[in-house]
Amino acid sequence: MTRVLVLNGPNLGRLGVREPDVYGHATHADLVERCRAVGMALGLDVEVRQTDSEAELVGWLHEAADGAVPVVINPAAFTHYSYAVRDALAQVTGPTIEVHLSNPAAREEFRHTSVVAGVVTGSIAGFGLASYELALRAIAATLTGPGT
Ligand code: DQA
Repeated sequence: MTRVLVLNGPNLGRLGVREPDVYGHATHADLVERCRAVGMALGLDVEVRQTDSEAELVGWLHEAADGAVPVVINPAAFTHYSYAVRDALAQVTGPTIEVHLSNPAAREEFRHTSVVAGVVTGSIAGFGLASYELALRAIAATLTGPGT
């Protein structure tokens, strides 16, 4: 089974209580369960992690780079300003997908910039938990080969 890391950045551990009008009522535990179930159906061994620490997130990306592990990442607020996360993500050779629950392009101006978008395989935003499901499907399709 191909291992995939799903990495969530700051404040995503507070899903369910955090601005439910923007992020919905599902908790981080719900997100983990959904990703694991979708992964299982796709033949992917999915491990979901969340951190509020930029250093920890960078460390996890180094781990993915060293193991050539595909990554689905929601860098949360780091999306908009962390060159450290961008530079770490640029080292990951497996497929990498940037995901967002909301659609940052339709929100405040500062969210319109993603400093990681230029170093990922692709980006998916605006579909709530389904953004993660679509990303895992994209990883599975990418691993199967072009044109599938
Ligand atoms: C987010 C969007 C970011 O702008 C925000 O800082 C987040 C969550 C999303 O999933 O919609 O924390 O990445």
